[in-house]
Amino acid sequence: MIRVDNLSYTYGNGVQALRNITAVFPREHIFAIMGRSGSGKTTLLNCIARFLRPQQGAVFWEKTNILDLDEKRFRSILGVVFQRLNLFPHLTVLGNMTLAPRRLRGCSRQSAEAEALEMLDRLGIAELAESYPAQISGGQAQRVAIARGLMLKPKVMLLDEPTSALDARTTSEFAQWLRELKSATSFIVVTHDLSFAGETARNGMFMVGGRIRECGRMEDIFKHVKKEAGTYD
Ligand SMILES: Nc1ncnc2c1ncn2[C@@H]1O[C@H](COP(=O)(O)OP(=O)(O)OP(=O)(O)O)[C@@H](O)[C@H]1O
Ligand SMILES: [Mg+2]
Repeated sequence: MIRVDNLSYTYGNGVQALRNITAVFPREHIFAIMGRSGSGKTTLLNCIARFLRPQQGAVFWEKTNILDLDEKRFRSILGVVFQRLNLFPHLTVLGNMTLAPRRLRGCSRQSAEAEALEMLDRLGIAELAESYPAQISGGQAQRVAIARGLMLKPKVMLLDEPTSALDARTTSEFAQWLRELKSATSFIVVTHDLSFAGETARNGMFMVGGRIRECGRMEDIFKHVKKEAGTYD
């Protein structure tokens, strides 16, 4: 379980992106972090992923401050898939997926490939194994990036705007795929797409101006957001 305690983050230019955020992310299949552009979603994600150091407050995994975990342990807990997927263009899907297990877990090429093929198969994208990133669609690349992250079997995976490059139909297909994905990993999904959030998550939070405005069941969040109609695009 991830817990964020009184977290504040201010960028070097003085923009205060997070203001005293306290939250618990329950261990469930998908949890959504929503909010309009600039509300602090990515900054929060980056603090949880240790890419940014908050000036105030802390992030905990169970009872441990994440800054106290060594890199290997941290990577076994948390995976991240960014908006820019960073698939290596010179490697096939299989090559992309086996890189981390081989380097970080010391797997042999053979066993890493067998594991990757099994993962692709489980995620319903086995036909992509030999393709290069330039040869697959945005929706497929998003799935491959998630499959690659799952190779390290993290407890939690953070996804930042996974549907931003997808059209409406692909977004809907991706939502269904994510919802039905059989995995022990919990997903925290950052998105400004409320219908995508509604299609995938049962619980979530809604951020406004670096604060959590609403947290809980999606129905309640939507009621609240509707009440503020016009203030959200
Ligand atoms: N590297 C940076 N330097 C300075 N200010 C930044 C930086 N990154 C973000 N900000 C500012 O911090 C605030 C929160 O930004 P953040 O990227 O966390 O929002 P977001 O909710 O992810 O938005 P979006 O939906 O557009 O991705 C915004 O006011 C933004 O302009
Ligand atoms: Mg963002």
